[in-house]
Amino acid sequence: MATWRVFTRTVYTAIAVIILIASPDVSFAAEQPSCGAPPPHIVVVGSVNVDLTVKVARPPALEETVTATDPRVSVAVGGKGANQAVAAARLVAGSRPVRFVGQFGGDSHASMLEQELVANGVDVSLSGRHPDLPSGTGLVMLSPGGEASSVVVGGANSAWPENDDELVSTMVRAARGAAVMLLQREVPDRVNLAAAAAAKAAGVPIVVDAGGVDAPIPAALLEAADYLCPNESELARLTRMPTSTDDEAVAAGLELVAQGAKRVLVTLGARGAMVIGATGVIARHDALPVPGGEVGKVGEVVDGTAAGDAFRAALAVAVAEGVDVVKDSRGLALAAAAGAHAVSVPGAVPSLPTRDEAENLIPEHRHLPAPALAATKACEETDAALRDDECPLRFGSRLNSMKERPDLWSGRERLDVLGMVRRLGEVEGIDLVDFNYPQHLDGRKPKAVTGALRAAGLAAGAVAVRFPASRFRAGAFTNPDPSVRAAAVDVVAGACAWARSLDASAGVIVWPQFDGYDYHLQVNYSDAWRRGVGAIRAALDRDECEGVKVSYEFKPTDPSSRFALVPSTAAALALVRDVNRPGRFGLTLDAGHLVAAGENPAQSAAMVADAGALFGFHLGDVHSKLAAEDGLAFGSVHAPGALELVFWLRASGYRGHAYFDTFPEAEDPTREAAYNVRAFKRMWSWAARLERDGIRDVLLNHDAMTSLEMQEGLIA
Ligand SMILES: *[C@@H]1O[C@H](CO)[C@@H](O)[C@H](O)[C@H]1NC(C)=O
Ligand SMILES: *[C@@H]1O[C@H](CO)[C@@H](O)[C@H](O)[C@H]1NC(C)=O
Repeated sequence: MATWRVFTRTVYTAIAVIILIASPDVSFAAEQPSCGAPPPHIVVVGSVNVDLTVKVARPPALEETVTATDPRVSVAVGGKGANQAVAAARLVAGSRPVRFVGQFGGDSHASMLEQELVANGVDVSLSGRHPDLPSGTGLVMLSPGGEASSVVVGGANSAWPENDDELVSTMVRAARGAAVMLLQREVPDRVNLAAAAAAKAAGVPIVVDAGGVDAPIPAALLEAADYLCPNESELARLTRMPTSTDDEAVAAGLELVAQGAKRVLVTLGARGAMVIGATGVIARHDALPVPGGEVGKVGEVVDGTAAGDAFRAALAVAVAEGVDVVKDSRGLALAAAAGAHAVSVPGAVPSLPTRDEAENLIPEHRHLPAPALAATKACEETDAALRDDECPLRFGSRLNSMKERPDLWSGRERLDVLGMVRRLGEVEGIDLVDFNYPQHLDGRKPKAVTGALRAAGLAAGAVAVRFPASRFRAGAFTNPDPSVRAAAVDVVAGACAWARSLDASAGVIVWPQFDGYDYHLQVNYSDAWRRGVGAIRAALDRDECEGVKVSYEFKPTDPSSRFALVPSTAAALALVRDVNRPGRFGLTLDAGHLVAAGENPAQSAAMVADAGALFGFHLGDVHSKLAAEDGLAFGSVHAPGALELVFWLRASGYRGHAYFDTFPEAEDPTREAAYNVRAFKRMWSWAARLERDGIRDVLLNHDAMTSLEMQEGLIA
C-alpha cells in the first residue's frame, strides 16, 4: 500500500511536468473533449512581412521626392509564409490546426501581424520575436496602372536562432505529428533545411514553394520535397532553361527531377498546372475560370498577388486531407480554385478564399469531402485507435535467456546462437530477435542467420552493440585514445552493416557499458562528453549506418563502470540534442535501468517521446534495491508502474517493438517470455479501457483518488 501511494505521487508530479511541456497540444485537445488527439496539423515555416503600400503617380527618381496621390497608407500582412498560413487556415475551416513558424520583429507592426494571423485561426506559438530588428517590411509604391515598385526589408525574417540546436528543436516540435509541411524561400536556407530534416525524420510530407530568393535550391531541400512548386518563371530561373511552351516546361521540370526532386508541380498561369515525375507529366489540371464575371462569363484577372500562395496552400491542404494529388484530380482542383479566386480580388490576404469560396469554383463531382467531415473522421479514427484493445506492437525477447534451463527444452539441440533462435521461435507471441554484436554475429554469414530466422518464423528486431571488454575497458566513445574511439566507431559501423543485411526493424542499439568511471577525480567530464558526441556522430556518418536508426541505451551504473557518463533520462536527452541527428539518433529506454536511476519509466517514456527520440523500449521489472539489474518478468513487481508505462507508450503512438530484457535464470525461459507478452497485452487493453473511461480528464485534473478507483476497477 505504501509503495502504491509513493508511486502514485511520483506519477502525478511526472504528469504535471509533462503537461507543462506539452501545453499547446493539451489545450487544443481540451477544446475537443470527444477526440483523443487533435487531427494532424499543417505547419508552414517561412516569412512574415508588413506591406506598406502607397499610391503614387510614378515612383521617384534618384534624389527626388514625390507626393502620394492618396492620403492613405495601406498596412497589410504579407510574406509568402504568412500568406500561405492564412490561406491554409481559411481552407481547412477550423477542421485541423495550422501552425506558422516565423520570426516577428520587435517593432509595433509585429503585434498587428501576429493578431491578424491569430484572427485567421493560425497558431503562432512556435514563432519567434526578434528584440532588435523590425518585422520584415515591404515598401510598395503603386503606380496608376497597377505597376508596383518595391523595396523589401528582410528584418526579422533573416534573423533566426543562430544556435543550430535551438533551431532544430523548434522544427522538431513543429513537425511532430504534422500532416504536411509547407516551405518557401524567403527565409535563410539553413532554416528550410532544418525544417525539412525534422519533417523527413517525422515522416511528414513536404511541399516546397520555389518562390523567394533567386539562388540555386540546396540539393538537400530539393531532394526532401515531395512536391517542389515553381511557377513558370521560377522554373526557368532554376534550370536556366526556356519554359514558355508546355514542352519546354516539361523538359525543365525533368531537369529538376534529374537533380533529385521527387515531383515538380509547375504552375503555368492561365495554362493550368502540371506535375512532372521521373516518367514525365504524371498529372495535370486546367486553370479554373476566374470568378466575378457576369453570369455565364468569366471574370478578369484583377491582381495576381498571393495567387501562388493560395494555390500552394490548397495543395498542402489536399495532401493533409489524405488526397493522392497525382492520382486524384480533386487535389489539383482545389488548388486551381484557390488560385482562380485569388486573382479575382485585389491584395494578398483579402484575396485568399475560404473553403466554400474555393469549392464554389469547382465542378460538383470534383469536390473533396467537407473538411469538417474529414476531420471528424480522422478524429474518430484516432479515438477508435485509442479505444482499441488490440496491441499493434511486435514483441522480442532476450536471446541469451534461451540458454537457461536447457533441461526443459525438447529441442535437444546445442543451444548455440541459431539453436537459441529456434527455441525463441517456439514462444507464443514473440515475433522478433535482437542480436548482440559482435558476440552473436561475428564470423557468421548473414544468409545463415536470415535462414534460421525464417525457419523459426521470426524477424530481426535490433542489432545490439556489446563492446568487447578487452579493447574498450577504459571507454568506447569517450576513450582518451583516439584509435580506440575509432575502433568503437568501427564496431557500430559493423553493427549497422548487420542491421542492414538482416533488415532489422529497430536498427542498432548501443549500450556504452564502459563509458563511465569508478572514482572521483578520475575523468574530465566536459572533455569526455565532447569526445562521446564526436564519436557518435562519426558512427552515424559512416556509410554502413546510412538509413539505419541508431539508439543509445543508457544505464546509470554497472560493474564495468560504476557511474555512467549518461546516468539519467535528462542526460540522455541532452546527448540526443548535442548529437543533433533528428530521426537518426535517439534513445532506447530500459525499464530496469530507469528504476535503477531512481526514475519513473512512464515519465521517461513520455518525455523522450515528446522529444521525438523514443526509438525503443526494453521491458522487465526489478526490486530496485536488490541485484544490480534483476530482469524479472514484466509487471511482476511494479504493476501500476508497468500499466502506466504501457499507457504512455500507447498514448504517445509508440510503434517501436516491445522487447523483454529479462533474466529468467531459474524458470523455463519460453514460459517466461510468453507470460511477458500476455502481461503487456493485458496492460494494453487495460490502458484502452482507461481511455474509454476518461482517464485523460483525470490526468488533467491530477485527480489521484479517481485514478486509483479506476485502476481498482480494472482488477475487479
Ligand atoms: C512567379 O512567382 C513570382 C513570385 O514568387 C512572381 O514574381 C512572378 O511574377 C511569377 N511568375 C509568373 C509567370 O507568374
Ligand atoms: C577538460 O578538458 C577540456 C578540453 O576538452 C579543457 O579545456 C578543460 O580545461 C579541462 N577541464 C579540466 C577541469 O581539466
